Amino acid sequence: MPSIRPRRLRATPAWRRLNRETRVDATQLVLPLFVREGASEPRPIASMPGVVQHSLDSLKAEIARAAAAGIGGIMLFGVPEHKDAIGSGATDDDGILNVATRVAVAEAGDALVVQTDLCLDEFTDHGHCGVLDAQGRVDNDASLERYRAMALAQAAAGSQLLGLSGMMDGQVAAVRAALDAAGRSDVPLLGYSAKYASAFYGPFREAVASSLVGDRRSYQLEPGNAREGLLETSLDLAEGADIVMVKPASGYLDVLAATAHRSPVPVWAYQVSGEYSMIEAAGAAGYLDRDRAAAEALVSILRAGADAVLTYYAIEAAEKDWGA
Ligand code: PBG
Repeated sequence: MPSIRPRRLRATPAWRRLNRETRVDATQLVLPLFVREGASEPRPIASMPGVVQHSLDSLKAEIARAAAAGIGGIMLFGVPEHKDAIGSGATDDDGILNVATRVAVAEAGDALVVQTDLCLDEFTDHGHCGVLDAQGRVDNDASLERYRAMALAQAAAGSQLLGLSGMMDGQVAAVRAALDAAGRSDVPLLGYSAKYASAFYGPFREAVASSLVGDRRSYQLEPGNAREGLLETSLDLAEGADIVMVKPASGYLDVLAATAHRSPVPVWAYQVSGEYSMIEAAGAAGYLDRDRAAAEALVSILRAGADAVLTYYAIEAAEKDWGA
């Protein structure tokens, strides 16, 4: 007869609640939002049921909802009407992301941290995260020049955290130096440090109307490389990242846990579009309980060591109290 019986602390709902090690708190959730230039009303994203490309008006309404739900922040992505080789819309003060940032900051007040994706892929006609050289390769250092200008435009628009997701070498140092030289040492940087070349970004391509041909494997990480993820995190820390991130989340919990053990700064994770859409599709097909699966995915990311999570479920998780 066993004398050690862990089941004692699982016997009742009250015990299970008290004995929970990991809780999902609304304040540690960040909602990614897409804003489409010229849109008069929100437009559904077919591969992400329940997620839309916002108009400026529907963005305001969603921010009010996010604030009421008590989540921690929002991450903005722009969907521009016109794209070109250098992603001009990204550095234009009247570009959709910068306009949306001003609207969001005014609407959010002190309730949310308003964050912006700092990457060129939404704005370039070739869909890459940087600019191309004469041979059509992504030119690292020329891309850094564009990131510097983009950072200044985003800071001027009022962004409260710049999310560097381009995976160019030296991007954190380049942007930090540009901001500091412009008197904007107050603006913090989030390094999308261990960002893998993932098939799970699939639905995001539709979300931002990406024109990408080919793939991002010359700058994003090989899915099999854990050590290289830690190297990227170390570099971002040395370059002055205020927060580091692992992305995608669910398939990379080992990298997330290792990063959480080592990092002296907060570690975030991004539950990406494909992670969301898989749960939605399986739920809609009746293959699993959609709410339970979503809550389990979220708590697992936090259990692995994330201090905050970017998730398309942010508002719903807060409203339905998936942590309880
Ligand atoms: C780059 C960026 C991407 C995502 C966030 N920032 C796309 C990519 O790197 O290919 C993906 C997010 C998601 O899939 O939810 N701007």
